Amino acid sequence: MEFTFFLDQDIKLPLYIQLYEHIKTEIQLGRIKEGEKLPSIRNLAQVLQVSKQTIETAYQQLIAEGYVQSRPRSGIIVLPVEEKEPNLVRFSAVFASAPAEERNVLYDFKYGDIDVDLFPMKIWRQCINTALDGPARDILLYGPYQGNADLRDEIRKYVFRARGISCSAEQIFLFGGTQQSVSFLSRLLHLQDGNVAMENPGYEGVRSVFLHYNCNIIPISLEKDGICIDELQKIRAKAVYVTPSHQFPLGMVLPIGKRLQLLQWACDTSSFILEDDYDSEFRYIGKPIPSLKSLDKEERVVYCGTFSKCFLPAARISYVILPLSLVEQGKQHINHCSQAASPILQKALSIFMKEGYFERHIRRMKTLYQHKHKVLLQSIEQFMGDHVNVIGQRAGLHILLHIKNGDAAHLIKKAEEHGIQVYSPARHWLHQEEAPSAFVMLGFGGLSQENIREGIRLLALIWNFLEV
Ligand SMILES: Cc1ncc(COP(=O)(O)O)c(C=O)c1O
Repeated sequence: MEFTFFLDQDIKLPLYIQLYEHIKTEIQLGRIKEGEKLPSIRNLAQVLQVSKQTIETAYQQLIAEGYVQSRPRSGIIVLPVEEKEPNLVRFSAVFASAPAEERNVLYDFKYGDIDVDLFPMKIWRQCINTALDGPARDILLYGPYQGNADLRDEIRKYVFRARGISCSAEQIFLFGGTQQSVSFLSRLLHLQDGNVAMENPGYEGVRSVFLHYNCNIIPISLEKDGICIDELQKIRAKAVYVTPSHQFPLGMVLPIGKRLQLLQWACDTSSFILEDDYDSEFRYIGKPIPSLKSLDKEERVVYCGTFSKCFLPAARISYVILPLSLVEQGKQHINHCSQAASPILQKALSIFMKEGYFERHIRRMKTLYQHKHKVLLQSIEQFMGDHVNVIGQRAGLHILLHIKNGDAAHLIKKAEEHGIQVYSPARHWLHQEEAPSAFVMLGFGGLSQENIREGIRLLALIWNFLEV
Protein backbone atom coordinates (compact mmCIF):
# COMPACT_ATOMS: atom_id res chain seq x y z
CA MET A 1 0.00 0.00 0.00
CA GLU A 2 1.32 3.43 -0.94
CA PHE A 3 1.16 5.84 1.91
CA THR A 4 1.74 9.52 1.46
CA PHE A 5 0.72 11.56 4.40
CA PHE A 6 1.92 14.83 5.85
CA LEU A 7 2.68 14.75 9.57
CA ASP A 8 2.71 18.26 10.92
CA GLN A 9 5.55 18.56 13.46
CA ASP A 10 4.46 22.08 14.40
CA ILE A 11 1.00 21.47 15.81
CA LYS A 12 0.52 20.19 19.32
CA LEU A 13 -1.34 17.04 18.30
CA PRO A 14 1.09 14.16 18.84
CA LEU A 15 2.31 12.53 15.63
CA TYR A 16 0.84 9.15 16.45
CA ILE A 17 -2.61 10.72 16.85
CA GLN A 18 -2.27 12.54 13.53
CA LEU A 19 -1.36 9.26 11.88
CA TYR A 20 -4.06 7.32 13.66
CA GLU A 21 -6.67 9.94 12.71
CA HIS A 22 -5.53 9.88 9.10
CA ILE A 23 -5.69 6.09 8.72
CA LYS A 24 -9.01 5.92 10.55
CA THR A 25 -10.56 8.51 8.26
CA GLU A 26 -9.21 6.73 5.16
CA ILE A 27 -10.76 3.48 6.38
CA GLN A 28 -14.07 5.14 7.22
CA LEU A 29 -14.21 6.79 3.80
CA GLY A 30 -13.44 3.45 2.15
CA ARG A 31 -10.20 4.67 0.61
CA ILE A 32 -8.38 1.96 2.51
CA LYS A 33 -10.46 -1.14 2.05
CA GLU A 34 -11.39 -4.15 4.12
CA GLY A 35 -8.72 -6.86 3.82
CA GLU A 36 -5.94 -4.49 2.76
CA LYS A 37 -2.68 -4.67 4.60
CA LEU A 38 -1.15 -1.62 6.31
CA PRO A 39 2.55 -0.95 5.62
CA SER A 40 4.95 -2.57 8.05
CA ILE A 41 5.99 -0.46 11.01
CA ARG A 42 9.58 -0.26 9.80
CA ASN A 43 8.65 0.77 6.26
CA LEU A 44 6.21 3.42 7.27
CA ALA A 45 8.61 4.84 9.85
CA GLN A 46 11.17 5.20 7.06
CA VAL A 47 8.74 6.74 4.61
CA LEU A 48 7.35 9.24 7.10
CA GLN A 49 10.69 9.85 8.78
CA VAL A 50 9.33 9.23 12.28
CA SER A 51 10.16 6.73 14.99
CA LYS A 52 8.85 3.18 14.88
CA GLN A 53 7.23 3.91 18.24
CA THR A 54 4.99 6.56 16.63
CA ILE A 55 3.75 4.11 14.03
CA GLU A 56 3.35 1.33 16.53
CA THR A 57 1.30 3.46 18.91
CA ALA A 58 -0.99 4.62 16.09
CA TYR A 59 -1.45 1.02 14.95
CA GLN A 60 -2.14 -0.15 18.48
CA GLN A 61 -4.85 2.46 18.80
CA LEU A 62 -6.43 1.30 15.52
CA ILE A 63 -6.27 -2.32 16.67
CA ALA A 64 -7.85 -1.45 19.99
CA GLU A 65 -10.69 0.34 18.24
CA GLY A 66 -11.29 -2.54 15.87
CA TYR A 67 -10.31 -0.82 12.62
CA VAL A 68 -7.48 -3.24 11.92
CA GLN A 69 -6.26 -6.56 13.20
CA SER A 70 -2.77 -7.91 13.69
CA ARG A 71 -2.60 -11.37 12.11
CA PRO A 72 0.37 -13.68 12.55
CA ARG A 73 2.49 -13.84 9.37
CA SER A 74 0.04 -11.63 7.46
CA GLY A 75 0.66 -8.26 9.11
CA ILE A 76 -1.91 -5.64 10.03
CA ILE A 77 -5.13 -6.10 8.08
CA VAL A 78 -8.05 -3.68 7.69
CA LEU A 79 -11.35 -4.95 9.13
CA PRO A 80 -14.86 -4.13 7.92
CA VAL A 81 -16.11 -0.77 9.15
CA GLU A 82 -18.91 -1.16 11.69
CA GLU A 83 -20.23 0.52 14.84
CA LYS A 84 -17.33 1.28 17.14
CA GLU A 85 -17.22 1.41 20.90
CA PRO A 86 -18.02 5.06 21.64
CA ASN A 87 -15.62 5.53 24.55
CA LEU A 88 -12.65 4.46 22.50
CA VAL A 89 -13.54 6.71 19.61
CA ARG A 90 -13.97 9.55 22.11
CA PHE A 91 -10.28 9.44 22.87
CA SER A 92 -9.26 11.04 19.63
CA ALA A 93 -12.34 13.21 19.38
CA VAL A 94 -11.71 14.75 22.78
CA PHE A 95 -8.11 15.41 21.91
CA ALA A 96 -8.78 16.88 18.51
CA SER A 97 -11.60 19.11 19.69
CA ALA A 98 -9.69 20.61 22.63
CA PRO A 99 -8.35 24.14 22.25
CA ALA A 100 -4.74 24.06 21.05
CA GLU A 101 -3.30 25.24 24.35
CA GLU A 102 -5.02 22.41 26.21
CA ARG A 103 -4.36 19.72 23.70
CA ASN A 104 -1.46 18.30 25.52
CA VAL A 105 -3.60 16.96 28.38
CA LEU A 106 -6.04 14.20 27.56
CA TYR A 107 -6.12 12.45 30.91
CA ASP A 108 -4.76 13.98 34.07
CA PHE A 109 -4.08 11.54 36.92
CA LYS A 110 -3.53 14.45 39.25
CA TYR A 111 -3.40 13.75 42.94
CA GLY A 112 -5.62 16.13 44.88
CA ASP A 113 -8.50 16.30 42.42
CA ILE A 114 -11.83 15.01 43.65
CA ASP A 115 -14.94 14.03 41.73
CA VAL A 116 -17.02 17.16 41.22
CA ASP A 117 -19.79 15.60 39.13
CA LEU A 118 -21.58 14.11 42.12
CA PHE A 119 -21.21 17.20 44.26
CA PRO A 120 -24.68 18.15 45.59
CA MET A 121 -24.52 21.69 44.26
CA LYS A 122 -28.21 22.42 44.75
CA ILE A 123 -28.13 21.45 48.41
CA TRP A 124 -24.87 23.31 48.99
CA ARG A 125 -26.36 26.41 47.41
CA GLN A 126 -29.34 26.10 49.77
CA CYS A 127 -26.98 25.82 52.74
CA ILE A 128 -25.13 28.95 51.64
CA ASN A 129 -28.44 30.76 51.25
CA THR A 130 -29.55 29.67 54.71
CA ALA A 131 -26.20 30.85 56.08
CA LEU A 132 -26.67 34.20 54.38
CA ASP A 133 -30.13 34.54 55.92
CA GLY A 134 -28.56 34.36 59.39
CA PRO A 135 -27.53 37.34 61.54
CA ALA A 136 -25.26 39.59 59.48
CA ARG A 137 -22.72 39.95 62.29
CA ASP A 138 -22.17 36.18 62.34
CA ILE A 139 -21.25 35.85 58.73
CA LEU A 140 -20.18 39.15 57.26
CA LEU A 141 -17.39 40.05 59.67
CA TYR A 142 -14.08 38.36 60.48
CA GLY A 143 -15.66 35.66 62.65
CA PRO A 144 -14.25 34.15 65.85
CA TYR A 145 -10.51 33.42 65.84
CA GLN A 146 -11.08 29.79 66.70
CA GLY A 147 -13.69 29.34 64.00
CA ASN A 148 -17.48 29.15 63.86
CA ALA A 149 -18.84 27.52 67.03
CA ASP A 150 -21.62 25.63 65.21
CA LEU A 151 -19.16 24.11 62.79
CA ARG A 152 -16.81 23.12 65.59
CA ASP A 153 -19.71 21.39 67.31
CA GLU A 154 -20.68 19.54 64.12
CA ILE A 155 -17.06 18.44 63.71
CA ARG A 156 -17.09 17.23 67.32
CA LYS A 157 -20.11 15.03 66.61
CA TYR A 158 -18.68 13.81 63.33
CA VAL A 159 -15.25 12.81 64.64
CA PHE A 160 -16.92 10.99 67.51
CA ARG A 161 -19.09 8.94 65.15
CA ALA A 162 -16.60 8.44 62.33
CA ARG A 163 -13.19 8.45 64.05
CA GLY A 164 -13.98 7.44 67.63
CA ILE A 165 -12.66 10.72 69.04
CA SER A 166 -14.20 12.14 72.22
CA CYS A 167 -13.52 15.81 72.56
CA SER A 168 -15.29 19.09 73.21
CA ALA A 169 -15.87 21.82 70.63
CA GLU A 170 -13.47 23.94 72.70
CA GLN A 171 -10.62 21.65 71.65
CA ILE A 172 -11.34 22.20 67.97
CA PHE A 173 -9.64 25.04 66.07
CA LEU A 174 -10.44 25.85 62.44
CA PHE A 175 -7.93 26.84 59.76
CA GLY A 176 -7.73 27.48 56.05
CA GLY A 177 -6.03 24.20 55.08
CA THR A 178 -3.58 21.69 56.53
CA GLN A 179 -0.53 23.87 56.00
CA GLN A 180 -2.11 26.58 58.12
CA SER A 181 -3.05 24.03 60.76
CA VAL A 182 0.55 22.84 60.93
CA SER A 183 1.89 26.35 60.90
CA PHE A 184 -0.24 27.12 63.96
CA LEU A 185 0.96 23.92 65.66
CA SER A 186 4.59 24.75 64.92
CA ARG A 187 4.16 27.97 66.87
CA LEU A 188 2.00 26.49 69.60
CA LEU A 189 4.34 23.57 70.27
CA HIS A 190 7.46 25.75 69.88
CA LEU A 191 8.81 23.55 67.15
CA GLN A 192 10.97 26.36 65.71
CA ASP A 193 14.64 25.35 65.44
CA GLY A 194 13.89 22.02 67.12
CA ASN A 195 13.83 18.38 66.02
CA VAL A 196 10.71 17.21 64.23
CA ALA A 197 10.43 13.59 63.09
CA MET A 198 8.58 12.76 59.89
CA GLU A 199 7.83 9.68 57.89
CA ASN A 200 10.16 9.55 54.91
CA PRO A 201 8.70 9.75 52.33
CA GLY A 202 6.08 12.05 53.81
CA TYR A 203 3.79 14.86 52.72
CA GLU A 204 5.92 17.62 51.26
CA GLY A 205 3.19 20.20 51.87
CA VAL A 206 3.68 19.76 55.62
CA ARG A 207 7.46 19.34 55.50
CA SER A 208 7.78 22.71 53.81
CA VAL A 209 5.96 24.32 56.76
CA PHE A 210 8.37 22.75 59.26
CA LEU A 211 11.30 23.91 57.14
CA HIS A 212 9.84 27.38 57.14
CA TYR A 213 10.11 27.31 60.93
CA ASN A 214 13.68 26.13 60.58
CA CYS A 215 12.89 22.78 62.16
CA ASN A 216 15.47 20.07 61.96
CA ILE A 217 13.58 17.33 60.13
CA ILE A 218 14.54 13.82 61.22
CA PRO A 219 13.43 11.40 58.52
CA ILE A 220 12.07 8.11 59.82
CA SER A 221 12.02 5.20 57.39
CA LEU A 222 8.92 3.32 56.47
CA GLU A 223 8.52 -0.42 56.80
CA LYS A 224 5.91 -2.51 55.03
CA ASP A 225 3.46 -1.63 57.80
CA GLY A 226 4.37 2.02 58.24
CA ILE A 227 6.73 4.11 60.31
CA CYS A 228 9.76 2.31 61.77
CA ILE A 229 9.28 2.50 65.54
CA ASP A 230 12.81 1.25 66.28
CA GLU A 231 14.26 4.23 64.44
CA LEU A 232 11.93 6.61 66.20
CA GLN A 233 12.92 5.23 69.57
CA LYS A 234 16.53 6.12 68.89
CA ILE A 235 15.93 9.82 68.38
CA ARG A 236 14.66 12.78 70.34
CA ALA A 237 12.09 15.07 68.77
CA LYS A 238 9.56 17.58 70.02
CA ALA A 239 6.99 16.09 67.67
CA VAL A 240 6.46 13.45 65.03
CA TYR A 241 4.17 14.01 62.02
CA VAL A 242 2.41 10.84 60.77
CA THR A 243 -0.38 9.76 58.41
CA PRO A 244 -1.47 6.51 60.12
CA SER A 245 -4.81 5.94 58.36
CA HIS A 246 -3.22 6.06 54.91
CA GLN A 247 0.47 6.79 54.76
CA PHE A 248 1.20 9.54 52.31
CA PRO A 249 2.40 8.78 49.68
CA LEU A 250 3.08 5.02 50.06
CA GLY A 251 -0.41 4.19 51.24
CA MET A 252 0.08 1.67 54.05
CA VAL A 253 -2.27 1.62 57.06
CA LEU A 254 -0.53 1.63 60.44
CA PRO A 255 -1.56 -1.50 62.38
CA ILE A 256 -2.86 -1.24 65.91
CA GLY A 257 0.33 -2.66 67.48
CA LYS A 258 2.46 0.10 65.96
CA ARG A 259 -0.10 2.74 66.92
CA LEU A 260 0.22 1.71 70.55
CA GLN A 261 4.04 1.75 70.30
CA LEU A 262 3.91 5.20 68.77
CA LEU A 263 1.74 6.47 71.62
CA GLN A 264 4.09 4.90 74.12
CA TRP A 265 7.07 6.63 72.47
CA ALA A 266 5.30 9.98 72.74
CA CYS A 267 4.57 9.38 76.46
CA ASP A 268 8.11 8.23 77.21
CA THR A 269 9.69 11.20 75.47
CA SER A 270 7.00 13.81 76.27
CA SER A 271 6.66 14.44 72.54
CA PHE A 272 3.55 15.21 70.55
CA ILE A 273 2.20 13.18 67.66
CA LEU A 274 0.69 15.19 64.82
CA GLU A 275 -1.82 12.81 63.28
CA ASP A 276 -2.84 13.87 59.76
CA ASP A 277 -6.05 12.00 58.97
CA TYR A 278 -6.47 13.64 55.55
CA ASP A 279 -8.45 10.96 53.68
CA SER A 280 -9.54 8.45 56.32
CA GLU A 281 -13.08 8.39 54.91
CA PHE A 282 -12.02 6.48 51.83
CA ARG A 283 -10.96 3.05 52.86
CA TYR A 284 -11.64 0.12 50.51
CA ILE A 285 -10.08 -3.00 52.01
CA GLY A 286 -10.29 -4.26 55.58
CA LYS A 287 -12.11 -2.96 58.62
CA PRO A 288 -11.96 0.69 59.67
CA ILE A 289 -9.11 1.35 62.04
CA PRO A 290 -9.76 3.88 64.81
CA SER A 291 -7.80 7.08 64.67
CA LEU A 292 -4.66 7.37 66.75
CA LYS A 293 -6.35 10.19 68.64
CA SER A 294 -9.11 7.85 69.77
CA LEU A 295 -6.49 5.66 71.49
CA ASP A 296 -4.71 8.58 73.08
CA LYS A 297 -5.22 8.21 76.84
CA GLU A 298 -2.26 10.40 77.76
CA GLU A 299 -3.23 13.33 75.52
CA ARG A 300 -0.13 13.26 73.34
CA VAL A 301 -1.92 13.35 69.97
CA VAL A 302 -2.85 16.48 68.06
CA TYR A 303 -5.36 15.52 65.40
CA CYS A 304 -5.35 17.29 62.01
CA GLY A 305 -8.42 16.93 59.79
CA THR A 306 -9.31 18.56 56.49
CA PHE A 307 -12.44 18.94 54.35
CA SER A 308 -10.37 18.88 51.15
CA LYS A 309 -10.92 15.20 50.32
CA CYS A 310 -14.25 14.38 51.91
CA PHE A 311 -15.94 17.65 50.85
CA LEU A 312 -14.21 20.25 48.68
CA PRO A 313 -10.61 21.45 48.42
CA ALA A 314 -12.11 24.80 47.43
CA ALA A 315 -13.75 25.17 50.85
CA ARG A 316 -10.26 25.65 52.35
CA ILE A 317 -11.37 24.44 55.76
CA SER A 318 -9.24 22.27 58.00
CA TYR A 319 -9.24 21.68 61.74
CA VAL A 320 -7.03 20.75 64.61
CA ILE A 321 -8.13 18.93 67.75
CA LEU A 322 -5.86 19.87 70.63
CA PRO A 323 -5.26 17.85 73.78
CA LEU A 324 -7.08 19.50 76.70
CA SER A 325 -3.80 20.59 78.24
CA LEU A 326 -3.06 22.77 75.20
CA VAL A 327 -6.45 24.42 74.72
CA GLU A 328 -5.85 27.56 76.78
CA GLN A 329 -2.47 28.14 75.17
CA GLY A 330 -4.06 27.47 71.80
CA LYS A 331 -6.64 30.16 72.41
CA GLN A 332 -3.99 32.68 73.32
CA HIS A 333 -1.98 31.87 70.22
CA ILE A 334 -4.94 31.96 67.90
CA ASN A 335 -5.81 35.48 69.02
CA HIS A 336 -2.84 36.69 67.05
CA CYS A 337 -4.11 35.31 63.73
CA SER A 338 -7.30 36.23 61.95
CA GLN A 339 -9.49 33.33 60.89
CA ALA A 340 -8.56 32.36 57.31
CA ALA A 341 -11.55 30.17 56.42
CA SER A 342 -14.53 32.24 55.28
CA PRO A 343 -17.18 32.65 58.03
CA ILE A 344 -19.88 32.29 55.35
CA LEU A 345 -18.56 28.93 54.20
CA GLN A 346 -17.98 27.78 57.77
CA LYS A 347 -21.59 28.52 58.63
CA ALA A 348 -22.87 26.91 55.43
CA LEU A 349 -20.79 23.81 56.15
CA SER A 350 -22.17 23.60 59.67
CA ILE A 351 -25.69 23.57 58.18
CA PHE A 352 -24.66 20.99 55.57
CA MET A 353 -23.36 18.77 58.38
CA LYS A 354 -26.25 19.39 60.77
CA GLU A 355 -28.84 18.44 58.18
CA GLY A 356 -27.10 15.13 57.55
CA TYR A 357 -25.99 16.02 54.00
CA PHE A 358 -22.31 15.70 54.81
CA GLU A 359 -22.38 12.07 55.89
CA ARG A 360 -24.73 11.21 53.02
CA HIS A 361 -22.27 12.87 50.65
CA ILE A 362 -19.38 10.89 52.12
CA ARG A 363 -21.30 7.63 51.72
CA ARG A 364 -22.01 8.40 48.05
CA MET A 365 -18.45 9.46 47.38
CA LYS A 366 -17.06 6.41 49.10
CA THR A 367 -19.11 4.15 46.85
CA LEU A 368 -18.10 6.16 43.80
CA TYR A 369 -14.39 6.16 44.65
CA GLN A 370 -14.60 2.46 45.44
CA HIS A 371 -15.85 1.87 41.88
CA LYS A 372 -13.18 4.13 40.40
CA HIS A 373 -10.53 2.41 42.48
CA LYS A 374 -11.73 -0.99 41.27
CA VAL A 375 -11.68 0.11 37.64
CA LEU A 376 -8.20 1.51 38.13
CA LEU A 377 -6.83 -1.72 39.60
CA GLN A 378 -8.61 -3.88 37.02
CA SER A 379 -7.33 -1.73 34.14
CA ILE A 380 -3.80 -1.84 35.49
CA GLU A 381 -3.99 -5.59 35.76
CA GLN A 382 -5.52 -6.00 32.31
CA PHE A 383 -3.31 -3.60 30.38
CA MET A 384 -0.08 -3.46 32.36
CA GLY A 385 -0.02 -6.97 33.82
CA ASP A 386 3.38 -8.04 35.06
CA HIS A 387 5.10 -4.83 34.09
CA VAL A 388 4.03 -3.12 37.31
CA ASN A 389 3.17 -3.62 40.96
CA VAL A 390 0.54 -1.49 42.64
CA ILE A 391 1.48 0.12 45.95
CA GLY A 392 -0.92 1.52 48.55
CA GLN A 393 -4.19 0.18 47.28
CA ARG A 394 -6.15 -0.14 50.49
CA ALA A 395 -7.41 3.41 50.83
CA GLY A 396 -7.45 6.96 49.53
CA LEU A 397 -7.57 8.69 46.18
CA HIS A 398 -4.20 7.76 44.76
CA ILE A 399 -1.94 4.77 44.23
CA LEU A 400 1.69 4.33 43.28
CA LEU A 401 2.81 2.21 40.38
CA HIS A 402 6.09 0.42 40.80
CA ILE A 403 7.44 -0.04 37.28
CA LYS A 404 9.45 -3.23 37.22
CA ASN A 405 11.78 -2.48 34.34
CA GLY A 406 11.75 1.13 33.55
CA ASP A 407 12.77 4.58 34.53
CA ALA A 408 9.74 6.43 35.87
CA ALA A 409 11.04 9.89 34.90
CA HIS A 410 11.37 8.78 31.30
CA LEU A 411 7.94 7.13 31.30
CA ILE A 412 6.29 10.18 32.86
CA LYS A 413 7.79 12.37 30.16
CA LYS A 414 6.75 9.98 27.44
CA ALA A 415 3.20 9.92 28.80
CA GLU A 416 3.12 13.70 28.86
CA GLU A 417 4.20 13.88 25.22
CA HIS A 418 1.17 11.77 24.42
CA GLY A 419 -1.25 13.88 26.42
CA ILE A 420 -1.37 11.89 29.65
CA GLN A 421 -0.28 13.42 32.93
CA VAL A 422 1.10 11.14 35.60
CA TYR A 423 3.38 12.25 38.38
CA SER A 424 6.53 11.48 40.24
CA PRO A 425 6.17 11.20 44.01
CA ALA A 426 9.90 12.03 44.45
CA ARG A 427 9.34 15.43 46.07
CA HIS A 428 7.87 13.70 49.10
CA TRP A 429 11.26 12.21 49.95
CA LEU A 430 13.35 14.42 52.20
CA HIS A 431 16.21 14.03 49.75
CA GLN A 432 14.65 13.70 46.33
CA GLU A 433 17.69 12.00 44.89
CA GLU A 434 17.02 9.08 47.27
CA ALA A 435 13.54 8.48 45.88
CA PRO A 436 13.30 5.17 44.00
CA SER A 437 13.40 5.78 40.25
CA ALA A 438 10.61 3.32 39.54
CA PHE A 439 7.56 5.01 41.12
CA VAL A 440 4.75 6.77 39.33
CA MET A 441 1.90 8.39 41.26
CA LEU A 442 -1.66 8.19 39.97
CA GLY A 443 -4.49 10.18 41.48
CA PHE A 444 -7.89 8.98 40.29
CA GLY A 445 -10.47 11.04 42.23
CA GLY A 446 -11.08 13.56 39.43
CA LEU A 447 -11.31 11.14 36.48
CA SER A 448 -14.43 9.25 35.39
CA GLN A 449 -14.32 5.46 35.39
CA GLU A 450 -14.29 5.48 31.62
CA ASN A 451 -11.37 7.89 31.51
CA ILE A 452 -9.44 5.95 34.12
CA ARG A 453 -9.70 2.82 32.02
CA GLU A 454 -8.88 4.57 28.80
CA GLY A 455 -6.02 6.53 30.36
CA ILE A 456 -4.46 3.35 31.74
CA ARG A 457 -4.87 1.56 28.42
CA LEU A 458 -3.17 4.41 26.60
CA LEU A 459 -0.39 4.54 29.16
CA ALA A 460 0.17 0.83 28.61
CA LEU A 461 0.33 1.45 24.86
CA ILE A 462 2.66 4.39 25.17
CA TRP A 463 4.91 2.56 27.60
CA ASN A 464 5.01 -0.52 25.35
CA PHE A 465 3.38 -2.77 27.92
CA LEU A 466 0.84 -4.00 25.37
CA GLU A 467 1.74 -6.44 22.64
CA VAL A 468 0.68 -5.56 19.09
C1 LIG B 1 -1.04 14.09 53.50
C2 LIG B 1 -1.99 15.19 53.20
N1 LIG B 1 -2.48 15.93 54.19
C3 LIG B 1 -3.37 16.92 53.97
C4 LIG B 1 -3.78 17.23 52.70
C5 LIG B 1 -4.82 18.31 52.49
O1 LIG B 1 -4.31 19.54 52.54
P1 LIG B 1 -5.31 20.80 52.59
O2 LIG B 1 -6.10 20.68 53.86
O3 LIG B 1 -4.35 21.95 52.64
O4 LIG B 1 -6.11 20.79 51.37
C6 LIG B 1 -3.28 16.51 51.64
C7 LIG B 1 -3.71 16.87 50.28
O5 LIG B 1 -3.16 16.72 49.31
C8 LIG B 1 -2.37 15.47 51.89
O6 LIG B 1 -1.88 14.74 50.89
